[in-house]
Amino acid sequence: MRLLNRSAGRLSRHRRGPLAGMLVIIAGLLLTGGIFTALVNTTASADETVSSADQVAQGRQLFLVSCSFCHGQNGEGVRTEDGNQIGPPLAGVGAAAVDFQVGTGRMPMVQPGAQVPSKPESFTDEETAALAAYVASLGPGPAIPDESDYSIEGLSDSEREQAIANGGQIFLTNCTACHNFEGSGGAMPRGGYAPNLHSTSARHIYEAMLTGPQNMPNFANGNLSPEEKRDVIAYLYSLREMPSYGGFGLGGLGPVPEGLAAWLLGIGGLVGFAVWIAAHTTRTNKKKVEA
Ligand code: HEC
Ligand code: HEC
Repeated sequence: MRLLNRSAGRLSRHRRGPLAGMLVIIAGLLLTGGIFTALVNTTASADETVSSADQVAQGRQLFLVSCSFCHGQNGEGVRTEDGNQIGPPLAGVGAAAVDFQVGTGRMPMVQPGAQVPSKPESFTDEETAALAAYVASLGPGPAIPDESDYSIEGLSDSEREQAIANGGQIFLTNCTACHNFEGSGGAMPRGGYAPNLHSTSARHIYEAMLTGPQNMPNFANGNLSPEEKRDVIAYLYSLREMPSYGGFGLGGLGPVPEGLAAWLLGIGGLVGFAVWIAAHTTRTNKKKVEA
């Protein structure tokens, strides 16, 4: 409730500010840019699944330069003499893990810490594909998903609504514990955190579920079918398209949560009004004292 009021307050403050119009335009542009990038990325992935010997060789070269220090010359992993792991073995993690780790800039890791953060990517798409092909050649593991697995573009309006509702349920059951019910993330034990999911591309969302990076469990296709994964993506994307009422993502879950939200917003408004009155009174009192 406090959060609700605070962000509502922030919203209205910004709206009143002279820069408000500009901010809205910038936000709109960023959003369009993000969607465009997501689309471009997804179309590029189609031919990445086919890996030639050349690609594996190129990947190995890159790996030796950028990754072998921690993961070993042949991806066998590296341990210090007292048994600390510098980098885990990579045989069997699959191309999907590399595409996720390198594509979100987590790898190459720069410094050890509670959690390896994402950062701007250090490799081109082609280099990432080569690295993925090389690691995939070390042992069988999950492949980079096909665009048809994660894309929600081809869905009709009603299929999409169905996917969002179903994905919302799956997300509530499997993901909210760590990522919060609207995907805005949260703290984890020992200095870790579950990141917010507001700008992760569809492919990386799919791969995160498939490979379970760091403290996240993995959701292999046996646990969560490809369609269920796609539905989760549809749900997360629907949160991005929605105006944010103080961070309440409903995901089209039906009249009950919507009624609840309306109720909370109504009460929120009343509380906000009460706070305003209180602040107003204090100010008036202060003036009286000063006078
Ligand atoms: C400075 C050391 C370091 C470097 C350099 C590094 N890594 Fe890693 N890598 C790690 C560590 C540590 C982890 C384990 C992180 C965790 O899961 O907690 C890891 C995890 C991974 C994983 C996930 C494995 C899994 O089980 O899913 C992949 C894939 C990976 N690295 C690929 C790469 C690639 C490709 C490169 C080079 C571009 C690279 N790494 C460079 C240290 C490093
Ligand atoms: C036990 C807690 C936990 C659960 C449950 C969990 N995650 Fe995660 N998730 C994490 C953590 C921790 C990370 C960060 C891992 C890292 O940085 O390598 C993460 C990372 C991610 C990322 C990468 C985000 C980015 O942009 O870097 C996505 C996407 C994601 N999770 C989606 C999901 C989905 C979808 C579900 C449910 C099917 C789920 N997670 C369930 C803890 C969890």
